Amino acid sequence: MQPQQPIRQLFQQHYGRLPQWVAVAPGRVNLIGEHVDYCGGFVLPMAIERFTSIAAAPAPADRCAGPARARLWSTALQRTVEIQLSATAAPVPTAAADGWANYVRGVVAGFSARGVCVPAFDAVIDSTVPLGGGLSSSAALEVATATLLAAMTGHAIAPLELARLCQQAEHEYAGVPCGIMDQCASTLCQEDHLLLLDCRSLETKQVPFTRPDVVVLITNSNVRHEHSCGAYAERRAECERAAALLGVESLRAVTLEQVEAARASLGAVGYRCARHVVTEIARTVAAAAALQNNNWSALGPLMAASHASLRDDYKVSCLELDLLVELACAQPGVIGSRLTGGGFGGGPVTLVEAARAAAAAAAIALGYRLQTGRECTLFTTRPVGGARLEP
Ligand code: GLA
Repeated sequence: MQPQQPIRQLFQQHYGRLPQWVAVAPGRVNLIGEHVDYCGGFVLPMAIERFTSIAAAPAPADRCAGPARARLWSTALQRTVEIQLSATAAPVPTAAADGWANYVRGVVAGFSARGVCVPAFDAVIDSTVPLGGGLSSSAALEVATATLLAAMTGHAIAPLELARLCQQAEHEYAGVPCGIMDQCASTLCQEDHLLLLDCRSLETKQVPFTRPDVVVLITNSNVRHEHSCGAYAERRAECERAAALLGVESLRAVTLEQVEAARASLGAVGYRCARHVVTEIARTVAAAAALQNNNWSALGPLMAASHASLRDDYKVSCLELDLLVELACAQPGVIGSRLTGGGFGGGPVTLVEAARAAAAAAAIALGYRLQTGRECTLFTTRPVGGARLEP
């Protein structure tokens, strides 16, 4: 899905001149490997056909005196935010009207920390990545910003380094202690491939999405349970506590036997979290191997086991998500379905035969409405490429 109006045109309408750069970064969906990136595990995301685009040009000469600032026009909010580009610009409270610009501030700070000065500029920001749907709208904004700033400053930055810079922005400017998956996916994914990312070594492998007759159906429950942010940090801390108890740097380094043997000392919560992480890493490796062997029928049971583990052991699902997965799995043509992203809202990722996707989507939407009185939103996508500068 492209912006309603080409972003170059929006820039010209707003600022009365043409942009010099257009940077585009996609959202992502994770097929399997949930809540394991911050434990050094394997994840298997893909970039989706939803993008954040930024068109920009240097500020006019009369705005270049004094400390450098950027004007950011958000098409979603239909308003401009002005941000400082100095190395010391701090984040504003997330709930502030310009709280969303913290992602941009954080990326600017990352360039400053690398000794790169960002000159004054004007930008239009447009996004088709749904907010709060677990599709990494924030990573898309960070990665689009970093791609833009690399072009604008002439500071070449390797893709993994760019992803790290963006993750740091999320940690320090949005206060979310996320792993590296989302920023890597938005940066490194390739068309018609999933990205097998080893979050410990940061080695990557492009895994071909071999079936042209299969699409990825993304559903948003349109619920967001309030404790999602705090609960994410709690889960991460619990995993770190379990790893420390087991005497390893991260849960990636332990086997299921070790977790079982340490059950009593881990305590009930630590044990469940560690079991989820260890089994989910194994499922992700198995799913990547299945895809590589063109063994798609193995994916359904792996996705089902992943969902059960996230629901019962990791406890990041909710009734609405469980229902959506159950409805999806009951539809003809569905290969597999599971909760994707952080949980507590968002929705499932479902692999479905393209020819049956519309019927499956309609049946899921109807079942959800009948059982919850709520509307879900659905769309299909194929894997697309990561961030780019438009020519
Ligand atoms: C969020 C985080 C990711 C990852 C997922 C769960 O999307 O940003 O780093 O931890 O949750 O897999």
